[in-house]
Amino acid sequence: MQRRQGYIGVLAPFCVLVIFLLLTLTASYKPVIVIHGLFDSPSDFQLLLEFINETHPGTNVTVVDLFDRTESLKPLWMQVEGFRRAMYPIMQNAVDGVHLLCYSQGGLICRALLSTMPDHNVDTFISLSSPQMGQYGDTKYLKWLFPQHMKSNLYRLCYTHVGQDFSICNYWNDPHHRDLYLNNSNFLALLNDERLHPNASAWKKNFLRIRKMVLIGGPDDGVIMPWESSLFAFYDDNETVREMKSQPVYLTDAFGLKTLDARSDLVFCIMPGVSHTYWHSNRTVYDTCVDKWLT
Ligand SMILES: *[C@@H]1O[C@H](CO)[C@@H](O)[C@H](O)[C@H]1NC(C)=O
Ligand SMILES: *[C@@H]1O[C@H](CO)[C@@H](O)[C@H](O)[C@H]1NC(C)=O
Ligand SMILES: *[C@@H]1O[C@H](CO)[C@@H](O)[C@H](O)[C@H]1NC(C)=O
Ligand SMILES: *[C@@H]1O[C@H](CO)[C@@H](O)[C@H](O)[C@H]1NC(C)=O
Ligand SMILES: *[C@@H]1O[C@H](CO)[C@@H](O)[C@H](O)[C@H]1NC(C)=O
Ligand SMILES: *[C@@H]1O[C@H](CO)[C@@H](O)[C@H](O)[C@H]1NC(C)=O
Repeated sequence: MQRRQGYIGVLAPFCVLVIFLLLTLTASYKPVIVIHGLFDSPSDFQLLLEFINETHPGTNVTVVDLFDRTESLKPLWMQVEGFRRAMYPIMQNAVDGVHLLCYSQGGLICRALLSTMPDHNVDTFISLSSPQMGQYGDTKYLKWLFPQHMKSNLYRLCYTHVGQDFSICNYWNDPHHRDLYLNNSNFLALLNDERLHPNASAWKKNFLRIRKMVLIGGPDDGVIMPWESSLFAFYDDNETVREMKSQPVYLTDAFGLKTLDARSDLVFCIMPGVSHTYWHSNRTVYDTCVDKWLT
């Protein structure tokens, strides 16, 4: 009797420690890094932070506070450099990796980050209504910026050295001026390996370090044009949308898209009824498309 109590006395603190460790281990979610879109700033993500706090308490979420508002018009490679510096320390503190949630234009910045960081430890890359195959359409953003131009004329500005100093032009993809796009787009055409460059195979390898890519988009977006660009589909030269699987970048596996798909690591989440500026604040979108990946 005496002896048994002695054992319990010795084991009890040990058991408490084991239970404590198990609890903290199972309750620890990977940090989440959020990259905002055109004209946004971290304050726009308040609801998202609340959703994550409620469903995954204790998650360390960082909405990177860089290139806010009109600063988001800066060239995308410059933004990629800035976000890279902000992300490194977060990644280094996260032994099990991080999740990346990138909204709108931010989704292209994230893809460039993933392709150009050989040592990133991103687990799941969530692309929230991002023009992954580019943009070709009038939006209120463009009307404010280029009041004189219609979508059919914007190529004249975008596919020049001056034009490429604006983020929007970095992913402007005019299906009627493919040659000019290939010659002059110094961002999307490189990222997609549509324009040959020496680092393409390294970029592909880097990109494929992710475990999963989740593509979220929907027909009522109203800003991303065509909205299917968020799912790697795009216009042909007749402005008919061709699905991802018939895109040359998919067929040639230019940057790893086909490999991800073959690995079953490409997830689509299509949500009607969501206009562009509501993607990160809509609880249904969060519950259906985002929540389950933030493990
Ligand atoms: C997270 O939720 C808890 C409980 O509702 C609340 O007390 C806390 O302030 C929240 N934290 C953040 C950062 O929102
Ligand atoms: C969240 O992560 C950042 C970067 O790793 C770190 O500096 C910060 O202290 C963390 N916050 C909490 C509450 O753990
Ligand atoms: C693209 O660049 C090539 C080589 O510099 C040039 O021959 C061609 O005319 C250019 N095409 C267009 C449409 O500018
Ligand atoms: C290609 O990689 C080399 C070596 O890592 C680097 O110096 C160079 O800037 C890269 N080029 C591009 C276009 O990223
Ligand atoms: C373009 O689309 C229109 C309308 O669907 C069709 O009549 C036309 O034949 C198409 N042209 C080409 C070249 O595919
Ligand atoms: C939120 O998303 C749901 C499902 O797609 C949609 O029906 C609803 O209209 C959206 N609400 C808002 C405010 O965008």
